[in-house]
Amino acid sequence: MEDLNRRTLLKTGGTLGALGAATVIAPATPWTWSPAESVPGVGSGADPKGEWDPEADAVIAALLDRGEVPKVNKILRSWTKNGQPLPAGLPADLRDFMEHARQLPAWTDREKLATAVRFNQKRGTYLGVLYGFASGMMSTVIPKEARAVYYSKGGADMKDRITKTAKLGYDIGSLNAYQPDGEMIVTCVKTRMAHAAVRHLLPQSPHWVHVAPEKKPISQADIMVTWHSLPTTVWRNLQKWNVPIAPDESEGFLHSWQVSAAMLGVQDQYIPASWSSADSQAKQVLDPILAPTPEGKKLADILLGLGYNLDLSLLSRGVLGALTRFMLGDKIADWLDIPREPVWSPLLETAWGPYVAVREGALNVGVPKEAYWLFDEFLRQFVLFYMSELHMPINIEIPVINNPK
Ligand code: HEM
Repeated sequence: MEDLNRRTLLKTGGTLGALGAATVIAPATPWTWSPAESVPGVGSGADPKGEWDPEADAVIAALLDRGEVPKVNKILRSWTKNGQPLPAGLPADLRDFMEHARQLPAWTDREKLATAVRFNQKRGTYLGVLYGFASGMMSTVIPKEARAVYYSKGGADMKDRITKTAKLGYDIGSLNAYQPDGEMIVTCVKTRMAHAAVRHLLPQSPHWVHVAPEKKPISQADIMVTWHSLPTTVWRNLQKWNVPIAPDESEGFLHSWQVSAAMLGVQDQYIPASWSSADSQAKQVLDPILAPTPEGKKLADILLGLGYNLDLSLLSRGVLGALTRFMLGDKIADWLDIPREPVWSPLLETAWGPYVAVREGALNVGVPKEAYWLFDEFLRQFVLFYMSELHMPINIEIPVINNPK
């Protein structure tokens, strides 16, 4: 029955797509994930599709209405480090909100965060590919996110927008992410404020209003969907590739993302307490809603061209397409009109598993030397890509307009 519904929906979507309107409108499934599976283990269980971020939304909407955002953005450019006091000159209501929003949740466990760093150091090479590609590409088949990004100001430079989110994924693993000299708290607070602005602005976009199935974007449920496209998707792929991960490192990695969800304004009752709880929530909120949209396809096309201007031969459109197909599966690759690549698709399917096993010391032989070298070089080029393209400081600003196009 579910299949039939999806097929029917997709067919309808195809027709609408051909007419140039929205594609699939995913059926709203009731929220049944229990707060017993969350970090505090209790909660009201209210459907997060009807929850936003009232505290941030009110302050930022007022700021936009008072025309104070450009001044605030300018002042906040100098606020970059977690431990830095807020700069002078901010409106009082914003300052109060930010002082509160920058506090780590009471359940933050510093020891777990330190273990997360160890995990990130050991697995950094895989993480570049996974955040950049598995998560980045997945965001293009999350319809609400693709539309919100496309029609908001950031949509005018989608590559910049998507690389910023990928960088956030990468930054979360940096040595000092949540330490006073790190930047993750600042990044989260600024992102939370940008999201609040989007909630105020997008409903004023005639383009977005025309295609969006909701009245107000970026609900708590939407944030968790995107959250799953990041750590849960990374974790699922590492499992699939049989990458051995020590239990404390796995927990540390999860914890760093639990903290980031809270810092982005997600209520504790929606933040999964364990990987199995995360997986069960993702099965409910992420897996069933994935679908192509015209906006997401354009986004994916831009992402596939990310290596174009770089001197990194293995990050070509064909190889990145093969990687997408390998990591996200045939269905998603077909949605995005990514052709099967004749050399890389079979190579990834046959040699990636043994390559990872050799790399992790679980096998001594089994991969031809050339394939081993190629994959090594491929991972190295991804790291180089991060270093060259994403080394600039993230300058997250509160948008004041939508995408004018
Ligand atoms: C902005 C990350 C969830 C839509 C941003 C920015 C970051 C970010 C880092 C700032 C980028 C920039 O300055 O261009 C995240 C993370 C999420 C999440 C880590 C979840 C864990 C979502 C969701 C949506 C969304 C669920 C929509 C349904 C947007 C939009 C912007 C934005 C429209 C503003 C772009 C602009 O016009 O400036 N997000 N986001 N995000 N995000 Fe998110």
